[in-house]
Amino acid sequence: MKNCIVVTGGAGFIGSNFVNEWVKHGLGKVINLDKLTYAGNLENLAEIQHNPDHVFVHADIGDREAVQKLLAAHQPRAVVNFAAESHVDRSIHGPGEFIETNVVGTFHLLEEVRAYWGALGATDKTQFRFLHVSTDEVYGSLSATDPAFKETNAYEPNSPYSASKAASDHLVRAYHHTYGLPTLTTNCSNNYGPYHFPEKLIPLVIHNALQGKPLPIYGNGSNVRDWLYVTDHCSAIRRVLEDGTVGETYNIGGWNEKTNLDVVHTLCDILDQEQPKAQGSYRDQITFVVDRPGHDQRYAIDATKIERELGWKPAETFETGIHKTVKWYLAHPQWVNNITSGEYKNWVSQNYKERGEELA
Ligand code: NAD
Ligand code: TYD
Repeated sequence: MKNCIVVTGGAGFIGSNFVNEWVKHGLGKVINLDKLTYAGNLENLAEIQHNPDHVFVHADIGDREAVQKLLAAHQPRAVVNFAAESHVDRSIHGPGEFIETNVVGTFHLLEEVRAYWGALGATDKTQFRFLHVSTDEVYGSLSATDPAFKETNAYEPNSPYSASKAASDHLVRAYHHTYGLPTLTTNCSNNYGPYHFPEKLIPLVIHNALQGKPLPIYGNGSNVRDWLYVTDHCSAIRRVLEDGTVGETYNIGGWNEKTNLDVVHTLCDILDQEQPKAQGSYRDQITFVVDRPGHDQRYAIDATKIERELGWKPAETFETGIHKTVKWYLAHPQWVNNITSGEYKNWVSQNYKERGEELA
């Protein structure tokens, strides 16, 4: 094996942050396998495009031949699986792609990784890792008084997205239990930060605010999410990859529970300071729209296990992270423009028209 890792989905939001950091920190070579769906963007990797430690491979995790060739050619010591369809609203409109990539794709990837791992020598076999990146959404929804999700919580996924992620987590678990594949699974809360695709709440609100468009809040805005700055998620994955116990799962979160309304108010207040409007506040653009079907009320992560066992802690608070995020979007209008001028418009039109808003 070489000091090389394979990352899948490394052109997406979290994957590109992970790959950029890995290469810039000189941690070794990364083979980045990505299908480049609507969510994959090579611009996220522009800063490392000429770096010999980054090799991009345009392929599907479900393409057995491509994965087999890539593993044979590069002899990685680990595979980190970020590749997925990741947007709950899209999973409600069309669950098929979620089953295809998150369930069937992960299965094919696991099969090829199992074959590669099975042929390694004894020492390499012990050292190899397959790290599967999952979500807190597999645990279902909490009431206001429930304790935060622990690794021991039962899986109760409620959306096609979370059900497909739960299925992939179960496959990963089974490949460890049955075949001994050295797997690790991480379940993380909502991420935010640079390169976040502007159909998700935080980048969508920043973009719409600056365009003078409505800021759509589903339902009454009381749903709670537990926000984690993306580079804190990346540092947690690095810790789990290096020192996590094989076969275990680790919850990753920032102890930052906020209602959606709080998040949007905070974004408006920062924008009012950084880029004030001629008149009034960005808060004036807030509009309440028809709720998401089956909308989970609250997610909260208990990150005690990773803190205790691996000594990981987030570096950012919500206040520092959200300021950095707004400043990043203000400094990268071209990145946002390149996304929002294309196919993006069709999704926005479809998703918000049925909620009674014209946003395209
Ligand atoms: P994203 O949608 O921004 O990026 C997904 C990437 O995977 C894209 O580059 C896309 O092109 C690629 N991809 C999709 N299908 C593929 C396939 N069949 N083969 C190869 N590549 C494919 O997603 P993200 O927000 O960066 O999330 C990454 C992972 O982290 C996902 O597994 C997601 O479930 C998980 N996660 C995300 C969050 C979050 O808040 N965004 C929180 C917890 C867990
Ligand atoms: P999202 O970013 O889609 O992440 P997830 O559904 O995976 O948590 O949404 C975060 C929260 O914001 C969720 O409760 C839904 C809500 N939301 C809105 O209120 N308005 C929007 O336009 C979007 C995209 C999300």
